[in-house]
Amino acid sequence: MAKFDNSFTDELRQRLSLVDVISRRIPLVKKGQNYWGCCPFHNEKTPSFSVSEDKGFYHCFGCGEHGDIISFTMKSENVDFKTAISELADMAGVKMPEIKQKTPEQKQAEENYVKITESATQIYQDLLYTDAGKTALDYIKKRGFSDEMIKKYRIGYAPKNNIISSKFSNVKQDKLIATGLVRIGNYGLYDFFRDKLMFPIFNAHGQIVAFSGRSLDGSEPKYINTTDTELFHKRQTIFGFNFARDAIHKQNRSIVVEGQIDAIQMQNHGFPETVAPLGTALTEDHIALLCKSNRNIIFCFDGDNAGQKAAIRACTLVLPFLRDNSDVRFAFVSGGKDPDEILKSSGESAMKKIIDNSVSLIDFLWDSINKNYLTNTPNGRAQADKFLKECISKISDKIFQNEIEQEYNNRKFNQWHKWKKQKYVSEIELPDIDSMTENVIKSIVQTYPEIAEKYLDFLSSLNISFDEKSPKSDLDFENAEKFIVSVKLQRHIQKLNQEKQKILSDALNNQNSGAENLKEIDEKIKQAQEKLELLLDMNNK
Ligand code: CTP
Ligand code: MN
Repeated sequence: MAKFDNSFTDELRQRLSLVDVISRRIPLVKKGQNYWGCCPFHNEKTPSFSVSEDKGFYHCFGCGEHGDIISFTMKSENVDFKTAISELADMAGVKMPEIKQKTPEQKQAEENYVKITESATQIYQDLLYTDAGKTALDYIKKRGFSDEMIKKYRIGYAPKNNIISSKFSNVKQDKLIATGLVRIGNYGLYDFFRDKLMFPIFNAHGQIVAFSGRSLDGSEPKYINTTDTELFHKRQTIFGFNFARDAIHKQNRSIVVEGQIDAIQMQNHGFPETVAPLGTALTEDHIALLCKSNRNIIFCFDGDNAGQKAAIRACTLVLPFLRDNSDVRFAFVSGGKDPDEILKSSGESAMKKIIDNSVSLIDFLWDSINKNYLTNTPNGRAQADKFLKECISKISDKIFQNEIEQEYNNRKFNQWHKWKKQKYVSEIELPDIDSMTENVIKSIVQTYPEIAEKYLDFLSSLNISFDEKSPKSDLDFENAEKFIVSVKLQRHIQKLNQEKQKILSDALNNQNSGAENLKEIDEKIKQAQEKLELLLDMNNK
């Protein structure tokens, strides 16, 4: 059988969550670190099938079946390797590659690449502590980096001259060029990074695959990064991930900041679970990578407009990955500062406060649409609603999607329609509704916003506060609506009866017969009672 390039199966494993794939077939529940369900490969009533997202394996303690995302697809659908791969590729939205194995030449090329970047890093590191690197070293120290930090992140200095081109003169040109460290010009090879503070970029295995160089003389651009190579894809690489991975497991969350210096300072000042995208806006690949290791993410953005926009973008990207056990939050740093500056000026505790004040994705999305659309107008509400619906539709976990939709329906109902809390004014005051009925109505309002919307005027007249949360109604939609209508009819009848009483007592006092009115009211009462009986009768069927 032809074998797939390992990197493609790796990519599938990276892009797809094992839990997602398995829970399409069997319901899984999280208990402790793992997910559990009833084994699809043997008959059982109590779950002994465990799925570890972190390890990428499932194991059945009942029948001993175990494997990964690919073997699960093969077994559960009874398909061959190639079909399974093609299905998974579909699911992940990636193209099937040509069937090919890495050639020995390719493997060799990768080895050469990493050898070069590794020794280049060493060269840059050494140079930082020479005269040539003095400005760079002073600069990075001034930014609050200790020698240990410099060593750990392997920070260095790329000098003004073409050091890589000359030190690697015995290496074939195309091998050097492949790393992005040198380019070819009219006069031969020249170094891409010159007079820069150098931050190596590590892949998930801890190999150095690229660099980010910061200018030291204030020249623009402030940062230049290795352009994409065979081994470095900027849109798929997260800075600091290799250092943060264990902490992300331990803290059970990741924090995403905007810059690499921010990420390093955060990692070294109480937030080792911090990472940063690399000189680009966040991409779906970044999120996929993060979600794969942990679905609790705190995005930390600048508090300004650009930060808000970036947060919305992150929000729409993360929605497809949301599950009922993920906690995605947004933190905003105000005052035009970034986390690095907060840590420096106000310390860890100030940063902790910012992180602790983060808002949940649900709240953030709600707040943003209310900020960005004129929700006090029908047009604005319609626009906001469309955006919200689009967002909700991105959540792939259907049950969770429903819950979120409910939640927003409640908010729309309570906040957009400015629930009328003032007492309904009527000449005839009815006593308040009994508390049992009140509770049923509250549950219906919480569960079925459409019903609430439809009987808004009536419900507003009841002098009930709908602000606090109620348990879900156990009536189905139809019976819930019938219940509301029956209460409405009963109130109507009650009111007519009171009117009738009033006419009767008026008649007694004023010797005024009022017979005409009385007849009319009796007729109305009769009609309402018939309607009510019909409704209740139908209810019994
Ligand atoms: N960036 C980049 N190219 C630029 C500017 C920025 O790749 N020309 C990336 C860098 O990874 C940078 C991040 O975007 O860390 C955020 O940019 P910015 O906020 O402008 O820089 P800071 O991180 O604050 O950089 P510093 O603290 O070093 O000034
Ligand atoms: Mn900064």
